Amino acid sequence: MTTTDINDVAKLSRLGDIAVLALDSPPVNALSARLRDGIKGGIDQALADKDVRAIVLICRGKTFVAGADITEFGKPRTGTPLPDLVDLIENSPKAVVAAIHGTALGGGLELALACHYRVAVPSAKVGLPEVKLGLIPGSGGTQRLPRLVGVQKALELITSGAQVAAPVAEGLGIVDKVVPEASLEDAAIAFARDLLAAGASHPRVRDRDDKIGPARGKPEIFAEFRKANARAFRGFLAPEYCIRAIEAAVEQPFDDAVKYERSLFLELVAGSQSAAQRHVFFAERQAWKVPDIADDTPTIPVAKVGIIGAGTMGGGIAMNFANAGIPVTIVEMKQDALDRGLGIIRRNYEATAAKGRLKPEDVERRMGLLSGALDLSALADCDLVIEAVFENMDIKKDVFGKLDGIVKQGAILATNTSYLDVDEIAAATARPDHVIGLHFFSPANVMKLLEVVRGEKTAKPVVATAMQIARKIGKIAVLVGVCHGFVGNRMLAQRQREANKLILEGAMPWDVDRVLYDFGMPMGPFAMSDLAGLDIGWSKETTSSSTVREILCEMDRRGQKTGAGFYDYDEKRRASPSPVTEKIILDLAARKGITRRAISDDEILERCIYPMINEGAKILEEGKAIRASDIDIAWINGYGWPVYRGGPMFYGEIVGLDKVLARMKEFEARLGPDFKPAALLEKLVAEGRGFK
Ligand code: COA
Repeated sequence: MTTTDINDVAKLSRLGDIAVLALDSPPVNALSARLRDGIKGGIDQALADKDVRAIVLICRGKTFVAGADITEFGKPRTGTPLPDLVDLIENSPKAVVAAIHGTALGGGLELALACHYRVAVPSAKVGLPEVKLGLIPGSGGTQRLPRLVGVQKALELITSGAQVAAPVAEGLGIVDKVVPEASLEDAAIAFARDLLAAGASHPRVRDRDDKIGPARGKPEIFAEFRKANARAFRGFLAPEYCIRAIEAAVEQPFDDAVKYERSLFLELVAGSQSAAQRHVFFAERQAWKVPDIADDTPTIPVAKVGIIGAGTMGGGIAMNFANAGIPVTIVEMKQDALDRGLGIIRRNYEATAAKGRLKPEDVERRMGLLSGALDLSALADCDLVIEAVFENMDIKKDVFGKLDGIVKQGAILATNTSYLDVDEIAAATARPDHVIGLHFFSPANVMKLLEVVRGEKTAKPVVATAMQIARKIGKIAVLVGVCHGFVGNRMLAQRQREANKLILEGAMPWDVDRVLYDFGMPMGPFAMSDLAGLDIGWSKETTSSSTVREILCEMDRRGQKTGAGFYDYDEKRRASPSPVTEKIILDLAARKGITRRAISDDEILERCIYPMINEGAKILEEGKAIRASDIDIAWINGYGWPVYRGGPMFYGEIVGLDKVLARMKEFEARLGPDFKPAALLEKLVAEGRGFK
């Protein structure tokens, strides 16, 4: 066997008449310029070697090529362009076999689709996830995949970015052969030798028409797909561009359609949506990293979890752990509350099973991991106890004081408080270093975000354990510091305040909601309040008819659950603007001496969003979040901020921090100190910098 280094990431070996081009660019063999050059050099050399009759393309390390190198997007392009590489391989007179393990994603799969054959180990996965980065596959993926799997399946796979396991990919025609896990290279070489021995042709995917032909002249296929997915695709450009490119695959000659695909890709890669989604990709990975906590910090094994409170929150939290196979003891004060809580969890699991997303035996297995108790002493041997009781400092302190005397030393005591001072709660124990906040978002079994609240005294192993356990239960964790409302709710309060002011100054709740919905939020603040219930934190005894919400509650309009709140609801819970609310608003504005005026959509948006960005800057200034991108991750995963706008801090940069600051100053002059700019915002603008 002879081996040549093509460059530092590509090696070419020859075994008889088979050349093996091995790529080795950790961690994921992303298609950097160097790797593309290495592949080109390797293929050229193999083609020039008259003794080589077939080429195997394989990767070292944990995976086949997992995509384009995302860090190169948005920068000047160097090296061999991927489309040229793809053409070189597809037009090779010698058969090229891709040998796939790990994940062949994006540009990696496009490379493999240009090969004449694909073999894969059973654990391998393939997919075109570009849409998740606000892109479409730009090197023939939208043209070749439909030719293998048909139009409908290609639409589904490319617009969702889903990964398909090798055995399924084989069934779909993406992979030609699944080979044993342990012998990929040998199997790929044997596959190539068999081809040569059989004198087999090596077909190009581009020449196939059997799977796309039937869709030709049928625009209704695409129209129906758009309609069926309108909700999921709302606001995103990339899914629509994927559909257009696949439509072109069906209707246009290959070379024209490939050019069209490329033009769509280039437009997207230069746009703000993809920039935002790429930012989110890296931000999600960054959020796990805590600068002052080393990777090898010891963690505390969490084999058993205790939860106090079997209400909506406690129950939802418990499900996370049961889903991850960790036993949970739930403590409630009364048997009927405990039974009710466990009953709701069971019904949740059964509903999932009824939709076919959980096996009946898994329902039982997960329920089997949950046990109930009426006394805190049942939590003595837990490694982690999470308190999810009523949001009241005295109650929380009482619970923590008791827990401290009951739960074994070394165990972590966590509070699920949304607003309260974690340091004050920790001070109720003799182990403040083992107290932390774990702020789940409702419904806790669904929402991805977990704010991990690091107290003044929280020990590093406790923080490290919290981040680790968050990952284990499938959450996206953001580490935050102690302050009122932490990161997410503290910023939400800014938006809510302005929304409430806007409806007295001249807008209506449905105007504010429409503007924020059109911006991409799942719903506006008033629709959200109606959904949550307007009487959260409201009390009959202390109400004073001084806000719209108070008056609505006094009238028993408490949101969706009472059939009316800011909106009126019909029997199917469809909302319509309410003349009653309108009158309440007009009367209250008059009573407060406010002269109402027409308020533009732009003002609504800026007044709701810019103070949030400003508050985010204060949070950074105070060190309550590690980095701006963590704040973005919190808002995307906890509040439904549209991912294509990258989170509030990224959005501020897209708008221009100078513009945000200028508007804040205008608002401050006109409307007062609620708009006082953060010192950090002023500083960054003065220095011409962004948040990074
Ligand atoms: N380009 C550049 N860097 C990439 C990358 C890519 N396509 N894919 C992964 N990375 C980096 C990650 O940022 C991470 O870097 P870090 O260690 O400095 O944080 C590292 O590679 C490992 O990735 P990670 O996601 O943490 O590893 P994993 O084993 O959990 O998952 C993948 C591996 C390949 C499944 C996952 O990284 C992924 O989905 N990558 C994107 C694939 C993609 O979208 N390709 C299409 C691009 S057009």
